[in-house]
Amino acid sequence: MSINAPRGTQDILPGTSEKWQYVEQQLADLCRRYNYKEIRTPIFEHTELFQRGVGDSTDIVQKEMYTFEDRGGRSITLRPEGTASVVRSYVQNKVFGLPNQPTKYFYMGPMFRYERPQQGRMRQFVQFGIEALGSDDPAIDAEVLSLALNSYQELGLKSLKLVLNSLGDKESREAHRDALVRHFDPYREELCQDCQVRLDQNPLRVLDCKKDRKHPAMETAPSILEYLNDYSKDYFEKVKQYLDVMGIEYVVDPNLVRGLDYYNHTAFEIMSEAEGFGAITTLSGGGRYTGLVKEVGGPETSGIGFAMSIERLLMALEAENVTLPVDEGLDCYCVVMGEEAERAAVKLTDQLRRAGIQVDKDYLGKKMKAQFKAADRLGSKYVLVLGDQELENGVINVKDMASGEQKEVALDEIIEYMKEKIAGGE
Ligand code: HAM
Repeated sequence: MSINAPRGTQDILPGTSEKWQYVEQQLADLCRRYNYKEIRTPIFEHTELFQRGVGDSTDIVQKEMYTFEDRGGRSITLRPEGTASVVRSYVQNKVFGLPNQPTKYFYMGPMFRYERPQQGRMRQFVQFGIEALGSDDPAIDAEVLSLALNSYQELGLKSLKLVLNSLGDKESREAHRDALVRHFDPYREELCQDCQVRLDQNPLRVLDCKKDRKHPAMETAPSILEYLNDYSKDYFEKVKQYLDVMGIEYVVDPNLVRGLDYYNHTAFEIMSEAEGFGAITTLSGGGRYTGLVKEVGGPETSGIGFAMSIERLLMALEAENVTLPVDEGLDCYCVVMGEEAERAAVKLTDQLRRAGIQVDKDYLGKKMKAQFKAADRLGSKYVLVLGDQELENGVINVKDMASGEQKEVALDEIIEYMKEKIAGGE
């Protein structure tokens, strides 16, 4: 009986993994320019971190976590997102006390959510995200938004839409919350079971319900923007002004509600508007969070960040027909004939590799013609032909596969010769 990978997971095989490596490198380089440093946190955490951090009333905590008891009887959860872990680490390592603030992190790694798998929605997916902790300056909100957009634009995506909202501060949200309860209460019985609970626990979540989306009360629901107090309004205005000075276009959507509880002030999503992208159009999301650091045991400090999945980024690149400049070929292939030559080839390939040249050879005892075929299939730029005769003469035959040109090079000069060829061809 054969065993397949679990539903909602995937193997990333050569041919695709080069694309992953390329985008991961590009994203890391983008972070370097914005001065965000890499943080790596564990893949599993104490369940309580997400219950408190992400929020008990969210779908993620209620329905989607991979939670299990470890052999020591502790409740452990595979991380469904990165922010709670980053904040936990920031508090645990007392990073808030270090001189260089704000703290700017980026992360990349697998996350786990027990969701119904479909295109762009996996049970294991890789998130790239950033978090800036320790500053309440609206300019850093704008910086995060710029990095988020740029991460798509630099890879060549064009059909993007930045959707922005403000969820206000605590006071504004409480006023909005009361208004939402007043608004939806008369329709309580008509709402789904989940929303009836949400109305008591976290009425904002009602606006995000997939089942009740078409209920007439949704359209007339009070907008958060009407309940922003002066500080929150001013904060939102400043974020928008900074976006304007950078020439970043956005659409304000007062109904934008994020799937996690920790947000206030700035909340945003980036959508793909490319045709054929699929049913799920959200590429990434993020926002500001004020209560989270304190919730996890740290000081009253706020942060802002966003995350995207690499899976959806690659889907968007495909939908917009962007070809990434990934080289799946090979620098050179060593064609070998004869026992003595075989020994010399083992030595030579090793020396070439140590000199920085990408090289492969045959390990299946293939005939010369078949070795040439293999070199061709692998997309090798050069073929080095080494037979016992060449060995005796102290030479090696170098064939340029693009031009078909052949040249005899002295064996003791081959490494320098190839180094020049490869560097020159780049
Ligand atoms: P999120 O909206 O839950 O936010 O997820 C962010 C992004 O992760 C989504 O926009 C999507 O690209 C990707 N994603 C989420 N679930 C899946 C899935 N099942 N399959 C594939 N991709 C998925 C967060 O996780 C927050 N931690 C973002 C954040 C960072 N907020 C502040 N800082």
